[in-house]
Amino acid sequence: MRFAPISIFAVALSLAAAASASTPLRGDAEAGQSLFSLECGACHGSDGKGHPSWKAAHPESRLPDLVHSAFLVTRTDEQLHQAMATGHTVDQRWIPGHVFSNLSALDRWNVIQWLRDQSLRVEDFFPQAVKFTAKAFRIDEYGAKRLAAVGADPSELEVVVLTAYRGTRKPNEPLRLVPWTPVELDLLDAKERLGHLCFFDVRAPGSGELLHVGVAFDPAGQILSMRVRHPDATKRAAYEKALGAFVGRNVKTAQKLDAPRGLAQGAAWAQALSKPISLAAEGIVMFDKDERARRAFDL
Ligand code: HEC
Repeated sequence: MRFAPISIFAVALSLAAAASASTPLRGDAEAGQSLFSLECGACHGSDGKGHPSWKAAHPESRLPDLVHSAFLVTRTDEQLHQAMATGHTVDQRWIPGHVFSNLSALDRWNVIQWLRDQSLRVEDFFPQAVKFTAKAFRIDEYGAKRLAAVGADPSELEVVVLTAYRGTRKPNEPLRLVPWTPVELDLLDAKERLGHLCFFDVRAPGSGELLHVGVAFDPAGQILSMRVRHPDATKRAAYEKALGAFVGRNVKTAQKLDAPRGLAQGAAWAQALSKPISLAAEGIVMFDKDERARRAFDL
């Protein structure tokens, strides 16, 4: 059963009634976090990344990293509600034991808010985007060789590449995820391509914190921006300042990044970022190859 749009509307209405005029319309992320830990933590881990012992016991499961932006940008709020309400994935697969009838619509909304608050959005990098694609690419043998030189092992050869497009959007129309099908892809105009976006987790030099980072490239392979999700605004600004030292670099294929001049612990940052940024660049190489093959086929 699909989650009817009307129920979402009802949730929005009841939330609007609950919220005072001055508070924005949003769920309570803190309440969502404790619900998540209680109801979902046994499998998804209380951080949403997957509980290690559950994963070890179910190696065949496709448990996603629920707080990874590359996952969340491909799911609407409605689809996340559906996963909890009816136990269906976005492609209508049934997840055993996944109907949480003890959670009210408001509870589900709060859980979703907590997940969303930890992730980055396409709009954070490409405010003009009206649509985007998302595709997990497996790097081919040529890219794999280049990646091996920056320390990637064969289990790390997959990356989700998002590609953002400009266009016209009606007021309040949400950003649209274009399905990865030949018909839909044919309708996209390469001239409207704003760039690509990849997400990864990286250990920050110094603090050792695990950071969720997004890196945006223009269509020619230049780094446009890098952003990080962090609950502490001061720390986020400091991390984004360090990452900003890499903006403007041209990274077309896997490579060891040079330390930026004038950045504290610049060599350590360059070392930490070389592998994930290289993987992103090789993912974009795969995107371009895919597109060339598709266009050749069209002729
Ligand atoms: C018994 C273990 C278990 C529990 C408890 C559990 N999940 Fe899951 N969940 C899974 C598995 C396994 C998948 C992957 C299913 C697949 O893709 O085949 C999944 C997938 C999902 C998805 C992705 C659906 C999609 O569209 O791909 C979401 C969202 C999700 N769970 C949210 C939650 C939330 C929120 C809770 C708590 C209210 C929760 N889960 C509790 C096992 C669990």
